[in-house]
Amino acid sequence: MRLLPHLLLLSLLLSSISARHVVLYLSPDDFKDTLPADVDLDTDWEDFPDSAPETDHEVDPGSWRSVVDGDFPSDPSSSPDDSLYASGVNKMISAVSSADPRSMDDSVSDIEAAAQSGNPHAQSTLAFLYGTGSARDLTPAKAFLYHHFAADNGNMQSKMALAYTYHRQEMYDKSVKLYSELAGVAISSALISKESPVLEPVRIHSGVEENKEALRKSRGEEEEDFQITEYQAQRGNAGAMYRIGIYYYYGLRGVRRDEAEALYWLHKAGEKGEPRSMELLGEIYAMGAGLQKNYTKALEWLTLAIRHQHFSAYNGLGYLYVKGYGVEKNYTKAREFFEKAVENEETAALYNLGVMYLKGYGVKRDIKLARKFIFTASTVGQPKAFYHLAKMCQKGVGFKENLQMASALFKLVAERGPWGSLSKWALDSYIKGEVGKALLLYSRLAEMGYEVAQSNAAWILDKYGEHSTCMGELGFCTDAERHQRAHSLWWQASEQGNEHAALLIGDAYYYGRGTDKDYERAAEAYLHAHSQSNAQAMFNLGYMHEHGQGLPLDLHLAKRYYDQALETDPAAKLPVTLALGSLWIRKSYPNSFLVELIDSLPQIYPKVVAWVDEVIMDEGNATILTLVVCLLTVLYLRDRQRRNAAVLPPQPNEVPN
Ligand SMILES: *[C@@H]1O[C@H](CO)[C@@H](O)[C@H](O)[C@H]1NC(C)=O
Ligand SMILES: *[C@@H]1O[C@H](CO)[C@@H](O)[C@H](O)[C@H]1NC(C)=O
Ligand SMILES: *[C@@H]1O[C@H](CO)[C@@H](O)[C@H](O)[C@H]1NC(C)=O
Repeated sequence: MRLLPHLLLLSLLLSSISARHVVLYLSPDDFKDTLPADVDLDTDWEDFPDSAPETDHEVDPGSWRSVVDGDFPSDPSSSPDDSLYASGVNKMISAVSSADPRSMDDSVSDIEAAAQSGNPHAQSTLAFLYGTGSARDLTPAKAFLYHHFAADNGNMQSKMALAYTYHRQEMYDKSVKLYSELAGVAISSALISKESPVLEPVRIHSGVEENKEALRKSRGEEEEDFQITEYQAQRGNAGAMYRIGIYYYYGLRGVRRDEAEALYWLHKAGEKGEPRSMELLGEIYAMGAGLQKNYTKALEWLTLAIRHQHFSAYNGLGYLYVKGYGVEKNYTKAREFFEKAVENEETAALYNLGVMYLKGYGVKRDIKLARKFIFTASTVGQPKAFYHLAKMCQKGVGFKENLQMASALFKLVAERGPWGSLSKWALDSYIKGEVGKALLLYSRLAEMGYEVAQSNAAWILDKYGEHSTCMGELGFCTDAERHQRAHSLWWQASEQGNEHAALLIGDAYYYGRGTDKDYERAAEAYLHAHSQSNAQAMFNLGYMHEHGQGLPLDLHLAKRYYDQALETDPAAKLPVTLALGSLWIRKSYPNSFLVELIDSLPQIYPKVVAWVDEVIMDEGNATILTLVVCLLTVLYLRDRQRRNAAVLPPQPNEVPN
């Protein structure tokens, strides 16, 4: 366990399908070993948690999901505006599913009425409608205001939306406050060491194409997987029993969360000697998740797991000794158990050790050691470690105070909260062909700051055009509304590091799609994508330098960008070769007929594009443009060469530097 000497790279465990990349840099320059005067770790720092995990509906009340599932309002006589809101949401979901703008209006009237009488969930939904311009005029100020009311009255999704808004506007003191609360809620539903396996949002497109593989994966396999496992479990396979227990406990693989069913299978597996079930049962009894706490039973199961050589269970034992649950409180023993768990590669024990050193439980308080343990736990993707790390940056403990970093880290953890389950619902809707509903749900997540949802929603808007059943201010979206919405979503995704989005923004400005043509802004967006190592963006920048569009006319720089594009992506070989050829012509025959030809091609480009549109793809871009231009040039040269052997063919490799 050694901290890397220079740049420390944190990256949240990536799920292979979502390809979510989060990279944050913390360097030793950010370390600080003294405690700020206004921080008292005894009172300002969480102890080890001992609250029982709550269900999603309790943590995130009034979510659309709980309304549609019939879990909200839980008591029909509770409040008339709760029922009004619920009816509004049900109507809204069915309006987008059946693409019926008139019943959309109807639903929004219900929601608005409930919002006017102060219902926070209705206010949150109304904010969303104003923020996207669905059935209401696009009014960001009203969206902000209603989110604000809703958040003050406890609506969690509005808190997410507000936190994201503040984060974007670099008002980190405000975003940190909200995100830290949300992150705390998100991790409070975890057991001692077992995090609920959050499903990262799936990216439904890769580049401009649908991500067929990811969709196929999410489609059939899940249920099949469940059925096979269930069959094996019924035949007495202990490993399968454990997996079924997990599916029920967390509500995975298309089954609804059912704690009683989960405990039934885990007990069965545990009795058959399945050690992971023993550890999980121990943690469940210790936290009282879905059953009455029983520390005696917790101790029994954890001890049994260890006897079966399942040493990560030492972590749970350590917890019992820190708290003095079922045993006599003994910090020395607790630390020994955590250390044993770490030796056996249980990374959750790492940040537990970190917290012991922060709090000074049974040891001398040691900020450096605490930082080391917590940081190391975070590099293997422990969300609780991210949470503590964020808090250290927020309070200036172990690190220099850094609210921007704290906000980014809390955001990561907050996005694991139960509100994120919307993405599963959105994906299921998309797979079932309910594109309008998928768009609605992704848009809601987009508002809460989920980058994958932002790009999914934008992609649906681009891809499905009029068929996206996107609801505009009056009825379906107009073309202008759709472009505007997609543009704003791509923009947000791009801000959050989505290189494809940055490229699309550039293209939008370059071709004037959904916005006015603006070469300078296009260049800016391409530069952003370039900083994310996007070969296409490099190429486009080269092209813009070559033609002096939005960037100074500079043939040397143009060549440098073309070369970079080739280094980054070998597949760019052909367009780069052609572009270098065109550059060579420009340098060698300035003001000649050839250059005129190359330059006049963009004017006839629309005609070529019409052809390319039909034949090759639906949208043109700078690559295609250049490809066509240069192909024609080369063909022309070949032709000339045949007629007049004196003209040299282009020698791209000899372009003078
Ligand atoms: C807890 O478990 C122990 C051992 O299995 C049992 O004897 C005891 O009655 C249980 N306590 C409660 C309150 O259920
Ligand atoms: C706590 O545990 C340590 C190490 O196992 C042991 O030496 C010590 O006596 C225990 N303390 C008490 C008060 O039981
Ligand atoms: C532009 O065209 C190239 C070549 O066909 C393609 O690979 C790329 O994905 C396109 N980019 C966009 C943004 O349409």
